[in-house]
Amino acid sequence: MNTALPLAPADGKLGILLVGLGAVSTTTIAGVMAIRKGLAKPIGSLAEMGTVRLGKRSDNRSPSIREFVPLAELDDIVFGGWDIFEDNCYEAAKHAGVLDEKLLDQIKDELSGIKPMSAVFDRHYVKRLDGPNVKKGKNKKDLADQLIADIRKFKADNNCSRLVLIWAGSTEIFLTPSACHASLATFEKGLEDNDPAISPSQIYAYAAIKEGLPYANAAPNLSAEVPALSELALQTGSPYCGSDMKTGQTLIKTIIAPGLKARLIGVAGWYSTNILGNRDGEVLDDPESFKSKEESKKGALDYIFQPHLYPDLYKDISHVVRINYYPPRGDNKEGWDNIDIFGWLGYPMQLKINFLCRDSILAAPIVLDVALFLDLSKRAGLKGIQEWLSFYFKSPMHAPDIYPEHDLFIQLMKLKNTLRYMRGEELITHLGREYYD
Ligand SMILES: NC(=O)c1ccc[n+]([C@@H]2O[C@H](COP(=O)([O-])OP(=O)(O)OC[C@H]3O[C@@H](n4cnc5c(N)ncnc54)[C@H](O)[C@@H]3O)[C@@H](O)[C@H]2O)c1
Repeated sequence: MNTALPLAPADGKLGILLVGLGAVSTTTIAGVMAIRKGLAKPIGSLAEMGTVRLGKRSDNRSPSIREFVPLAELDDIVFGGWDIFEDNCYEAAKHAGVLDEKLLDQIKDELSGIKPMSAVFDRHYVKRLDGPNVKKGKNKKDLADQLIADIRKFKADNNCSRLVLIWAGSTEIFLTPSACHASLATFEKGLEDNDPAISPSQIYAYAAIKEGLPYANAAPNLSAEVPALSELALQTGSPYCGSDMKTGQTLIKTIIAPGLKARLIGVAGWYSTNILGNRDGEVLDDPESFKSKEESKKGALDYIFQPHLYPDLYKDISHVVRINYYPPRGDNKEGWDNIDIFGWLGYPMQLKINFLCRDSILAAPIVLDVALFLDLSKRAGLKGIQEWLSFYFKSPMHAPDIYPEHDLFIQLMKLKNTLRYMRGEELITHLGREYYD
């Protein structure tokens, strides 16, 4: 038996603060409320429905993850958040059109009670949106201080013992780290000087991490993925993770690609296109926001196929990703993948996937799991990047000197081994030692 990490219990209330009370956030919040009332099951949530095998297969020990590690109870969760629109969560959920009105009406009072705090927003970073519920401030430092005041007030008003903050706002324009992101000192100067390289999502990330809160970036835009915020997180003890939740087409990609690679089936091309009609789709119709999404979606295949190790199979994959805004479908996305593959002696074959998915239905359990597991990380004293939560993201954050792991099955093994490690249980290698001992 290894030594367990000291894990503080999940006593008291956990506040989950969401930036952007749109389709993803309201589907998460309404879902948790419906589950608490016994109206539905938390399908897709590993924290709620998953199990973890311990010891040898013959030991028959597979407790639920929830029994194995101390996670906040759903009854102890309180939600809050910010949005540029003033709609309460019931109105916003109706507008998002993901969940049936019949379900929403059963939790209407509780949902309507969640009203967005005023947002830090600037149209420069999300061209297709504008709304009235926006803070004014003398500079970006002042706006960050206002967010910190919101966070503290929410915690006190709702009697929370712990908080987690997740960016689930619209995709901002594509930005790469610049000089002001190099260190905490340059970043704080940038906040004072209104440096345009600092976007609203980074101001939320700064406020959360400055307060020592766990933070996650559920969107593809640059947020906490900069050296300045990593420095701050190590100082304040914040665990954080991201970026861009792995739902829809990329989820399927990271399920199929490791299988093809495992059997050394070659890939000549992978063409992905999809239609999407929600507000996210509308924002992504702007080329600068689309660029953030495109970069995030394209990374996975390169890392999974490792063309430098397998040049004969994966050197020149033609990988194309398209997202088309098509209003009639709303949140119900349809994706098509055409994969040109080749086998023994180079003989070509094709694989076609047509996925009729529901984006926010796939995203909501991720938001819940990430919040519960980040809270666990914080109570386990883990800080900085939480690579064990890569399982949930399209572009997993990783240390600068290693490459990100995109293979869903390796990510799952890493996640469960991290839980075993926290509890001092033996890590599982799938060696099957009983055959040789
Ligand atoms: N749905 C999915 O499957 C999925 C998967 C991966 C990533 N994402 C990302 O999650 C994010 C949210 O997706 P969604 O479908 O809920 O979109 P949405 O458009 O329904 O909701 C986003 C909300 O964020 C608000 N917002 C924008 N900027 C803000 C700011 N600065 N402060 C506060 N609020 C702000 C908007 O007003 C809107 O209500 C997007 O960036 C999307 O790309 C979604």
